[in-house]
Order: sequence, then C-alpha cells, then structure tokens
Amino acid sequence: MRERCCSKCPREREAQSSFAVIQGSKESQPVPKRRPNHSNVLGTYLPKPHSTSQTNHKSLRRHQVKRSLPQIGVARRRSGVKPFIKWAGGKRWLVESNHLNLPKYSGRYIEPFLGGGAMFFHISPKEAILSDVNPRLINAYRAVRDNWQAVESELRKMQRLHSTHYYYEERNRLRKTPHTSAAQFLYLNRTCWNGLYRENLSGKFNVPIGTKTQVIMPDDDFKSASSILNNAIISVCDFEETMAAAMKNDLVFLDPPYTTAHNTNGFIKYNQNIFSWKDQIRLRDCVEDAYCRGAKIVMTNANHQTIWDLYSGLGTPKVIARSSVISAKSSSRGQTTEALFVF
Ligand SMILES: C[S@@+](CC[C@H](N)C(=O)[O-])C[C@H]1O[C@@H](n2cnc3c(N)ncnc32)[C@H](O)[C@@H]1O
Repeated sequence: MRERCCSKCPREREAQSSFAVIQGSKESQPVPKRRPNHSNVLGTYLPKPHSTSQTNHKSLRRHQVKRSLPQIGVARRRSGVKPFIKWAGGKRWLVESNHLNLPKYSGRYIEPFLGGGAMFFHISPKEAILSDVNPRLINAYRAVRDNWQAVESELRKMQRLHSTHYYYEERNRLRKTPHTSAAQFLYLNRTCWNGLYRENLSGKFNVPIGTKTQVIMPDDDFKSASSILNNAIISVCDFEETMAAAMKNDLVFLDPPYTTAHNTNGFIKYNQNIFSWKDQIRLRDCVEDAYCRGAKIVMTNANHQTIWDLYSGLGTPKVIARSSVISAKSSSRGQTTEALFVF
C-alpha cells in the first residue's frame, strides 16, 4: 500500500486498484465486467473506411476520413527521457516520426498497454495512469520509480558479472525484492536475444542470450525516469480496468498486441497471455465507452481489413509505414504498415 495524500491522489488509487508485484508470483487478473527500428517513416492517409461492420457507432462517427497525398516523414529529435526497456512492438519509431499529432488534453495521460512506454516517456505527463498485464515489467517500472539507485547499483553488479554462464544462471534465479527483481528484468532485457520477452508454459523467462553485452547504457538516466514515473499510478491489470478510469479530457494511448481475426488462431500470444480477437472486440467497446465519457484516444493497431471493419466509421484512421525491424538481419528488413486511429 502506498501513502495516502488526499482523496483524489494517484498514490491512493494505485493502492486500491493494483496488485502486489512479487517476483515469481502470478497476479490475479481482473475479470472483464461488461462484455465478454526506427527510420524512413512514410505516411499515407487511408482510402475510405470499410463499411462491412454491423455495429452502429453513431456516437463516434464524427470525422470523415481525410484523403491526401502520401507524406514523407522526417525523423524528429527525441524529447523527454529515453525509455529504459526495449520492447517488442515498441513505439519509439512513432514518437520520433512526424506522424504524431496528439490531441490536446488537459486531464491525465493513460496508457493501458505500457510495454516499453515509448509514448509515456516522450510525453512525460504531469499525471498518468499506466498498466500492463506483465507483472515483471510493471515491477521494473515501480522499482525504478521508488528506488532507482538500488536498481542501478544491482545492474552495475550484473554488468561486471556478465558472461554466458552468468546470463543463464541469472535467468534461472528467483529474485525476491522489487529492486533486485527489476535489475534482473533489465539485465535480461538488455542481454537476451533481440530484447525479446517470452515465457515458457510455467511462466519462466526462456529467451536465449543475445549478442549485446552492454548492461549499463551511456544514456541511462534512471533518476529522470524515476521522477517522471513518480507522477504515475502503475498497475498490473487488464486494459479494461484501466480504460474504465478514462474520463473527460484525459488522453488515452492504446498500443495493443496486433491480433486480427485472420491470424491463424485468432489470437497473439504475449508472454503467457493470449490476446484474442475477443479482446480486440472488448477493446473497441472500451474505446467507444471512454470516448462517450469525453476521453481523447489515440490507438495504433494492425493495418488489416478486420481491424478497419471493427472500427468502421470510428474516429480518424491513417496508415503509417515504417521499416520493419522484426528480423535480426538487415537484409530481410522491409517496409511494414500499421494503422493509427484518433478518436
Ligand atoms: C505492443 S506492446 C506495447 C508496446 C509499447 N507501446 C512500447 O512502446 O513499448 C503490447 C503490450 O500489451 C500488453 N498486454 C497484452 N495483453 C494485455 C491485456 N489484456 N491487458 C493489458 N495489457 C496487455 C503486453 O504485455 C505488452 O506489453
């Protein structure tokens, strides 16, 4: 439990809404309440949205989709503090591009699929609600916020000890305190294969060692990261719980796993968590509800027909292209597109 400052204080709300994060333990997940790198960014406005969806979205049907010539993106200088976690699907490329035209907002910044938090650090908001279903990830943010010196000092020890043998030893070790667990998470994140996060069926991190050996980066700034995180409620929970907090004038940034109805199985496995097509529908419902409460919402998603159908007539969609960084070999990297919606 964190300290209570006043009745509306974020700290108090965190104490009420979040789950304790203990290394090795599994968090209980809230049950849905209502309804079941980096360069040469090109932007293209979408043609007409598809009209095959049966859903009536009158409340959201406020914008006509704009048509214009493709825009050529120019990389911008990064602002805010650099994220300290490398994450699959991270949006550092987006915040560095000129596609980001965030709506003005006067309330809180809310990010329910936090991952590496590229957008959060870019914006560095005065008040934020952050969450993710990954308890180890969330523990790392909380530990840096609450005791960055201890995390950094553990990480320095791990830098000195780093070797292939040590990597696998550390991967199997159960760290019990928040700061040692956070340092372990960061150590593995920085030295594993491609910064990937993957767990086996029993919930153990199982990514092999990668080629990078640097554990402490020259531009690490845990002190500044901590002070920005100090303005945030940080929880382990399903997106629906966090979305329910979005109110008038809040800005919500959504970057869900890119499941489409046509993935072979209709879901994407994220850690031990499955993000299914039903979750995408649940997310769309949350978007509608939050919009109706007056929140401003920006979402990235798969540039796929099923997503266009799901959000048919909602908000302002745009296709953004970027170079794919999924492959480790630069020869097999190509252009890929994603969808950006503003509601
Ligand atoms: C594409 S990543 C977000 C990347 C992030 N925007 C960044 O810049 O690094 C998606 C995140 O959603 C989280 N996630 C998956 N299912 C979730 C759920 N049901 N509720 C909340 N978070 C979820 C994953 O753990 C992952 O961190």
